[in-house]
Amino acid sequence: MIILGIETSCDETSAAVVRDGGRVLSSVVASQIALHHPFGGVVPELASRKHLESIAQVVHEAVEQSGISENHLDAVAATQGPGLVGALLVGFSFAKAYAYAREIPCICVDHLEGHIHSLFLEQDVPGFPFVALLVSGGHTGIYDVISHTSCELMGQTRDDAVGEAFDKVAKMLGLGYPGGVLIEQMASEGNPEQIHFPRPCLDTTDFDFSFSGLKSAVRRYIELNGDTNVADIVAGFQKAATDVLTTKLVQAALSRKRHRIAVVGGVAANSELRRKISASAHENGLRVYLPSLKYCGDNAAMIAAAGFHRYPCSWVRNTLLDQDVYSKACLRNN
Ligand code: KG4
Ligand code: ZN
Repeated sequence: MIILGIETSCDETSAAVVRDGGRVLSSVVASQIALHHPFGGVVPELASRKHLESIAQVVHEAVEQSGISENHLDAVAATQGPGLVGALLVGFSFAKAYAYAREIPCICVDHLEGHIHSLFLEQDVPGFPFVALLVSGGHTGIYDVISHTSCELMGQTRDDAVGEAFDKVAKMLGLGYPGGVLIEQMASEGNPEQIHFPRPCLDTTDFDFSFSGLKSAVRRYIELNGDTNVADIVAGFQKAATDVLTTKLVQAALSRKRHRIAVVGGVAANSELRRKISASAHENGLRVYLPSLKYCGDNAAMIAAAGFHRYPCSWVRNTLLDQDVYSKACLRNN
């Protein structure tokens, strides 16, 4: 079964063609980084307009690069939410119209379920159940993943998402946007032991997180000490954040007696996090699954993969026009 995936929940316009929920035939991601860079973050209205400008071309390229004729697409899968409503509407409406015109089903995909399915674009895929840490710009949570379409939220951030904390710390230090990758680069030149930042929620027995206190601790440090040692500051921040994420993920897996863990989402591209989680998994006898870097950030291939598994329980053409996007997380269990 060949599915065209479409993703426009934030600042990437993306389309991909994926066979049987795992074989990527094409994946096109048009980033809006340059557009939002001067503002130090995503400007929702600009994002929607840019998606509108790019969507038709991005879909066209994805279909062309896949080598599949449009007539051989079996379904379209599009991100329904969560995300920026105006941005989501562009891809979702495009998907509805595209599917309607070709008389093929349009499958609604949850963005977070999409991130989990980035794992299934790899050669070595996890068996069920496994415990997944989802770390992105908008979400930080731990899920007990039971099947392709069912998972249980074990814990989540009570305030900022970890990616948001990376972005805000980068902004404080004038490093630019998006902050995660810039912090990672700068941190490699610093000493992570030089400044000790707090590790919020590390001693609690639940699997919740809190990153706004850590972000404020960095701000206070800068106010008191200045920012002449940026590399040490970001190395200390990155160490604190990745320590908490690693510890909580492994504790969550052990608490459920799961033998497999995974990390997905934009922050899963962080090499310090990947290294720490792999080391801790090894120490605790767990197998770890990580998406390749190109599928950590937002992309439509993961949406097509998730859509493949939603297909049997999805609505088809006649109800297609009833569906709408949603902005807040509400990962479905069925
Ligand atoms: O999954 P994603 O592309 O979009 C959302 O769904 O939010 O995640 C974007 C987030 C941003 O906050 C970005 O700073 C962060 O992922 N990120 C990173 C790295 N690459 C991207 N954070 C830490 N280290 C990285 N290498
Ligand atoms: Zn995302």
